[in-house]
Amino acid sequence: MNNIINSVNLIYYSPTGTSRKIAHAIGDGLKVNNLKESDITFGNNLIESSPKDSLTVIVSPVYGGRIPSIFFERLGTPNGNGAMCAVVAVYGNRHYDDALLELKDEMTKRGFRTVAAASFIGEHSFSRDNMPVAAGRPDHYDLCMAEHFGKEVMDKINTVPDFGDLWVPGNHPYKEIKPKQPVAPVSTDSCCSCGLCVSSCPTHAISLDQSGNIHTDIDKCTLCCACVKVCPQGARVFDTPFTKFLFDNFSERKNPEFYF
Ligand SMILES: Cc1cc2nc3c(=O)[nH]c(=O)nc-3n(C[C@H](O)[C@H](O)[C@H](O)COP(=O)(O)O)c2cc1C
Repeated sequence: MNNIINSVNLIYYSPTGTSRKIAHAIGDGLKVNNLKESDITFGNNLIESSPKDSLTVIVSPVYGGRIPSIFFERLGTPNGNGAMCAVVAVYGNRHYDDALLELKDEMTKRGFRTVAAASFIGEHSFSRDNMPVAAGRPDHYDLCMAEHFGKEVMDKINTVPDFGDLWVPGNHPYKEIKPKQPVAPVSTDSCCSCGLCVSSCPTHAISLDQSGNIHTDIDKCTLCCACVKVCPQGARVFDTPFTKFLFDNFSERKNPEFYF
């Protein structure tokens, strides 16, 4: 640890695990002993207010060019007390639009000062084997970049004591959130009722009845596709024309961006 930072809180929401991988790599790059990890994918995890001499690194996936509202529900309103934070958006190779700005704004409201921001790419939740979108990402290069970002955050904290308001890309008003369509992934005939989809769902939208049938509450489903990616049988599917649209238009590789 250095003189300025005495503890680090690494907070992430990550239904399909890409934001978690990025968060861990950033954590490695920070090279600190006193790192607390708060995975808020399945619940609030009681995030405490932050002492002034702490750093919070906050990592969220991008949904519709925004931060998913469930992220802020899970995060709650911890008081930043003027402590530093780094904000990170992980998106599926289309764009992160206003997500990074929204994350920075929300952390400012909670009393944090944003020292750095970054965007990374993760396999798109709607990616399919026959129409891959950022498949396999974050890859080795992305994870090296994430580790490097962690190192640069610490370097900035150690060398720039009085930093001003950080500019991050994005617009006010934020991109409009479209109403969710009444759709959700479905379990097909090859479902073996193992229940992994049930336990993978961050919003508890999936249940297994005594006859081994899977039920999905469409209103609770956020389309995160954790259930699709975790299914060992490939029996859970989410068929959306959007996958082809993404594959046709957003297959060209994008790369991480840092803002200091
Ligand atoms: C409902 C929904 C909306 C999404 N919207 C976007 C988007 O606007 N832009 C984008 O590039 N990726 C988008 N994605 C893809 C995710 O941001 C991406 O797959 C991310 O890596 C998922 O993070 P996780 O693995 O931590 O769950 C969306 C995914 C979902 C489920």
